[in-house]
Amino acid sequence: MDMLKGACIIGQSGGPTAVINASAYGAIRAALDAEAITRVYGAAHGIRGVLDDKLYIMDEEDPEELKLLLNTPSSELGSCRYKMKDPDEDETDYKRILEIFKKYDVHYFFYNGGNDSMDTCNKVSKYMQRVGYPCRVMGIPKTIDNDLFGTDHCPGYASAAKYIATSCMEVSKDATVYDNAQITVVEIMGRHAGWLAAAAGLATYFGAGPDLIYLPEVDFDMDKLYADVDRIYATKNKVLIAVSEGIHYADGRFVSEAETSATDGFGHAQLGGLAVKLADALKNHLGGVKVRGIELSLLQRCGAHLASANDVKEAELAGRVAVESAVAGKTDYMVAFKRVMQDGQYTCETELLPLAEVANYEKKVPLEWINADRNGVTKDFIDYALPLIQGQPERPTECSLPRYARLKKVLAK
Ligand code: F6P
Repeated sequence: MDMLKGACIIGQSGGPTAVINASAYGAIRAALDAEAITRVYGAAHGIRGVLDDKLYIMDEEDPEELKLLLNTPSSELGSCRYKMKDPDEDETDYKRILEIFKKYDVHYFFYNGGNDSMDTCNKVSKYMQRVGYPCRVMGIPKTIDNDLFGTDHCPGYASAAKYIATSCMEVSKDATVYDNAQITVVEIMGRHAGWLAAAAGLATYFGAGPDLIYLPEVDFDMDKLYADVDRIYATKNKVLIAVSEGIHYADGRFVSEAETSATDGFGHAQLGGLAVKLADALKNHLGGVKVRGIELSLLQRCGAHLASANDVKEAELAGRVAVESAVAGKTDYMVAFKRVMQDGQYTCETELLPLAEVANYEKKVPLEWINADRNGVTKDFIDYALPLIQGQPERPTECSLPRYARLKKVLAK
């Protein structure tokens, strides 16, 4: 395989995670070290930065600051939710991307994101092939929702899961202190898949978690919630409930209050407000009992202080493998994770999956991992999730506060 020489662009896309910058670091570091890669650009706000000609020169960054990306939450280069049109219908964006690639001699494109971002990556890849422009394109997985197809798990999930489990344990302690009755509802992200809400089950498994957990894999029924709550309330007068923001009625309508509010570039409704809505409904149902609705919201995906060391390590690996594979001649793939269990020991290996196979498919929690009463998770889920959340990553600090990367972000001209 001939060496393809040229610059690369690395972009971050979709909702951030506590470890997406670890993938950026893996990719940037590997690209800076690769002989074939002549310049390393970071796209400001994902594909929008390419379209807007806003690229940061990563070669100009201090290597030690770059390294701090390993522990810096959220998307340091900036993110976007931008849906690329079908190139057969409208080529405008693709022509512009090609123009920018030519302007900066870009022959490698790495895109880090979830389902929608893999769709973007796939479309860019296929377009470059169609017009015969030599460009190796690789997807780097990321999503707290853990719903990317074909990979055992997604970078970002484990840290959010650990945050959720820990927060549920802490809330379960606080929500039971008074002698009077109390109902507490915790709302957890995950638009269409319940992996994140299922993580609340880790707290329950270790003796301090929700009594009831509802996932979007099962149709939600308000009367069933009332019946479940009544049963627990009758014995201990306190009920802790975890709900996925994505729970929906049998006709597909989200239970979430904000169902009709703003949508993003992909037409996804912004969810939220569910915890308060359900808490209020339960207050009425139980005749004025004290209730609290807690929305974990952004905290669950930027909580780097509770990140999993395995997640940080694997996120970095995914970014690095994407670059190393492209330099070795691969293109049009997403890096995926394969779980290897040997003598009870967990290790994570990578493999490459064709982008077209992963783009736009969602992986749900298997129904067998949801309990028979459809209000909790089974031991199979616990066994799946536990290895992922292991370890405390190193956390550089400054005056006892986290020391995050401070990049110069020099714009290319
Ligand atoms: O990226 C996934 C996710 O975190 C979902 O769990 C959540 O519904 C959504 O992003 C929120 O997106 P935004 O930050 O764009 O409102």
